[in-house]
Amino acid sequence: MTDYDGFRVERDGAVATITLDVPGKLNRVSLAARRQLAGAFGELGEDDGVRAVVLTGAGGAFTAGGDIASFLSAPVDEMTTLAFNVASPERCPKPVIARIEGYCLGVGFELALACDFRVCSEDAQLGLPEIGLGMIPGSGGTQRLARLVGLSRAKDVIMRRKRISAADALAWGLASEVVPASELDEAVDRVIGELSALSPVALAMAKRVLNHVYDAPLHVGLDLEGLAYGVLKSTEDFREGVESFVEKRPPKFEGR
Ligand code: COA
Repeated sequence: MTDYDGFRVERDGAVATITLDVPGKLNRVSLAARRQLAGAFGELGEDDGVRAVVLTGAGGAFTAGGDIASFLSAPVDEMTTLAFNVASPERCPKPVIARIEGYCLGVGFELALACDFRVCSEDAQLGLPEIGLGMIPGSGGTQRLARLVGLSRAKDVIMRRKRISAADALAWGLASEVVPASELDEAVDRVIGELSALSPVALAMAKRVLNHVYDAPLHVGLDLEGLAYGVLKSTEDFREGVESFVEKRPPKFEGR
């Protein structure tokens, strides 16, 4: 098993789980961990045996964020690639589910924002408190949060350090679901179950088109959507989806 700085990657059949785990430090994410996370997501993305990835934290918290002290000694080059590394869940062609309980702050929230689905326990607290450290969220937070919840709410969170409760995360559309902590695993499993029954190639294409054209002009988005649809038309899963409907049986998607 690869030795990562403060997280581990485990496989259970077609599901890979990345667990941030730094006991006593609320799963702080080091600069090395960010690079390694990008590598891990890249590898899982290329692994045909993986159908979904879960990103979570150990010990009742997602993470309290980046390793604050290390920022002073970090080389400038490193700081300029923060957003690239933290975007790795978004680049991963597999569906990525953030399983969030407790603190989800700083880079933790930025990672969660780059995931496809956020499933939260009722005690989750999401936030981007960097301004209190004389910095700003530098790993995609200013951009993704404003796009997802609007400029006004993003300013409350980033400029006034407003913490987002699980209830608000649900109301704002950030969380797909909010459940009691004791039901969190079940809720995540439910999402994985839904996704596992679907075509991996269609899911990957949907994710790619949704992410790529989110802020592109409509005509570009529509064109890319059409091209993606055309590519999918030649897959066996497309044929299987149509044939299974016509034959009134459940589809069996192979990911080809
Ligand atoms: N980086 C490094 N260490 C961190 C950390 C972070 N982002 N967040 C917490 N820790 C460490 C603390 O230094 C402490 O370690 P210590 O006992 O060796 O001093 C330990 O985790 C527990 O944190 P503590 O502050 O004692 O817990 P708390 O329950 O009182 O407060 C928080 C929890 C999350 C409110 C508080 O830890 C906090 O504000 N953390 C920083 C959040 C942040 O600014 N994140 C963005 C970073 S860019």
